[in-house]
Amino acid sequence: MTLDRRFLLCGFAYAIAGMGLGIYMAASHNHALFVAHAHILLVGFVVSFIYGLVHKLWIAGARTRLAVFQFYLHQLSTLLMSVGLVLLYAGLVPDPTIGPLLGLASVGVLIAVVLMAWLVMRSPG
Ligand code: HEM
Ligand code: HEM
Repeated sequence: MTLDRRFLLCGFAYAIAGMGLGIYMAASHNHALFVAHAHILLVGFVVSFIYGLVHKLWIAGARTRLAVFQFYLHQLSTLLMSVGLVLLYAGLVPDPTIGPLLGLASVGVLIAVVLMAWLVMRSPG
């Protein structure tokens, strides 16, 4: 499967999870998880969607090793960030325990955006 399609489908998975969480928060009148909800949707859905568009429109679905690595780095970091934020804001795991994991996930998301910028700069288009 092409990387643009993979990004798109992963993005939709985060949209479903994030909106599900939003509906749960609204229905339960408990908004404690809103930071997790916001980042699942923005980092998971919106940013993955944008990466899918970048692949389709600017880097012609580049399938280099770097592009594949960038895909996995963003997806693994986002998954780690999403699960970590839910555990933190649900009060299931304390800050000092989950903090390093969230820090790692954040750096992963950051490196992935730098790599995507690099892929765009290197593409001929
Ligand atoms: C089924 C759809 C959705 C439902 C039911 C829903 C529900 C909620 C609820 C209950 C809150 C907490 C509000 C608060 O306490 O301040 C919230 C916050 C938020 N939602 Fe959603 N949401 C939905 C879709 C989305 C989507 C699609 C996005 C972005 C792509 C989004 C982004 C955000 C953000 C950024 C916040 C935090 C706002 C703030 O800083 O106060 N939500 N949402
Ligand atoms: C490395 C990735 C990121 C990190 C470490 C990060 C961290 C944070 C932190 C610490 C907050 C404050 C949460 C609080 O209220 O206690 C926050 C809020 C927010 N961030 Fe991010 N963020 C990241 C990526 C993004 C991206 C990519 C977007 C949008 C595309 C985004 C949108 C928001 C929004 C709308 C808020 C306010 C709503 C909320 O409090 O959840 N963030 N972020």
